[in-house]
Amino acid sequence: MDIVRTAAELAKRTEGRGRVAFVPTMGNLHEGHLRLCEIAREHGDVVVTSIFVNRLQFGPNEDFDRYPRTFEADAAALERKGVDVLFAPLEQEMYPTPQVYRVQPPPLGDELEGAFRPGFFDGVCTVVLKLFNLVRPDAAVFGKKDRQQLKIVRGMVQQFNLPIEIVPAETVRSADGLALSSRNGYLTPEERAEAPNLYRVLRGIADAIVAGRTDYANLEVAGRAELHERGWKVDYIAVRHGLALRIPHPEGFDHPNLLIVLAAARLGNTRLIDNVDVVKQEGKD
Ligand code: PAF
Repeated sequence: MDIVRTAAELAKRTEGRGRVAFVPTMGNLHEGHLRLCEIAREHGDVVVTSIFVNRLQFGPNEDFDRYPRTFEADAAALERKGVDVLFAPLEQEMYPTPQVYRVQPPPLGDELEGAFRPGFFDGVCTVVLKLFNLVRPDAAVFGKKDRQQLKIVRGMVQQFNLPIEIVPAETVRSADGLALSSRNGYLTPEERAEAPNLYRVLRGIADAIVAGRTDYANLEVAGRAELHERGWKVDYIAVRHGLALRIPHPEGFDHPNLLIVLAAARLGNTRLIDNVDVVKQEGKD
């Protein structure tokens, strides 16, 4: 595996090697990221992974400084996975001058995650667009755990006519249901034992919808209350339509197959997000 720090070196490693499949990451890699790399292999001749902790997507009170940087272990894991090129730009390469031009996300960028993390999707879209311009991928793989990110990036690619196929990847979970996340490493042993309840509560709401409930607001309130009693601080639990993440019709006219349930909640100092398809179907995204 080649490790490159600059766009010029990267271009030398990818030119003339066929289709480029790309996995953007912020490092601190876990099995979920490595699964994205496996999927990338199915979509390209050369697999490029990036590691760049993007300052623009962290709010002033968020964890940019304490975000885990584990470069050596990450590079070794990517090498074992058969990734061809690791693009690990320095801050200077990505932001040689202050990034005053930004991508303005759609209104969805102010909802759900965006309502609790102002500027987050502006930061994500801006760095993803820059990475796309530097890597020039034919396909890029994004995990469904960050469902809203996946939707917004896909919309950006469509509306800016970028010739990139966005490939969604299923969330990888521990045996107890907890979605793998770099932030799980912040959890104390007690919090780690509690954490799978986020998934359990979301799954419970999804199952209730499958069983015929259409009073989504009541289900959201009950889910919040249950997590609150268990010591969580819930930012949101929301039933949304899976295609554009719009609020479902209040009369329950949306087919349950198309609904998803999303949440973000804090355990101690750690903020976790997750989402489930009400009915799991491959290829829905
Ligand atoms: O999902 C992430 O890890 C980040 O938001 C991304 C897409 C690498 C942009 O910094």
